[in-house]
Amino acid sequence: MKKIICLALAAVLAVCCFASCGETKKKEMVMGTNAAFPPYEFVDDNGGFAGIDVEIATAVAEKLGMTLTVKDMEFDSLLTAVQSGSIDVALAGMTVTDERKQSVNFSDTYATGIQSIIVKNGSTIKTVDDLKGKKIGVQAGTTGDMYCTDDYGQENVKQFQNGSLAVAALANGQVDCVVIDNEPAKSFVASNKDLVILDTKYAEEDYAAAIKKENTEFLDNFNKALKELKESGKVKEIIDKYIAAK
Ligand code: ARG
Repeated sequence: MKKIICLALAAVLAVCCFASCGETKKKEMVMGTNAAFPPYEFVDDNGGFAGIDVEIATAVAEKLGMTLTVKDMEFDSLLTAVQSGSIDVALAGMTVTDERKQSVNFSDTYATGIQSIIVKNGSTIKTVDDLKGKKIGVQAGTTGDMYCTDDYGQENVKQFQNGSLAVAALANGQVDCVVIDNEPAKSFVASNKDLVILDTKYAEEDYAAAIKKENTEFLDNFNKALKELKESGKVKEIIDKYIAAK
């Protein structure tokens, strides 16, 4: 009998040790993104993930004693992935909206964006008001998509899987303009001198990380780390590295 108790105790000890040993191992933080949105996220020349969101997530993970894994997916699958728990957090230049808040929680914001309009040089579209009745290219599931669908009707909005496909469609005349966030707009236009960004703001937005509603503890930790990174100037440093400080 004694022997059995001893063995049982040994087993319990072994399990405890195993569990606590496990705790010292770094936990993984899985970030979902759509890495076709420079300078927030993109695939660099070495095939790795780079950009503002990737660096902010790396810094947050480091503060939380976690290692970062990046999963690239379609932008319009990100919120479902957060909800199902297949990713811990979505960082994707994602705008905080009331509609999205119904399905996920957002962290504190770390950057701002502007929905801007890209047209071909010499286009008749000069301001937001000229979008009426025009064919508008957008990235599917983005705020640009939602606003244009609401304001100009679904029949006038053509969805693309990413911004560069939308911009390519503008370059070859399939759409009359593209509505997309200002920084990616700049980077897409930089490689095509036939395209210009109108000096007009269709919408101003805040970017934040999306986290599963039930993961409130992770949300708190994420926000604490983000706050420290903002206060230490690290967030600004990362943003300035990718967006030339004005
Ligand atoms: N800010 C816009 C939105 O939240 C566009 C974000 C697109 N991001 C991306 N990684 N493709 O809807």
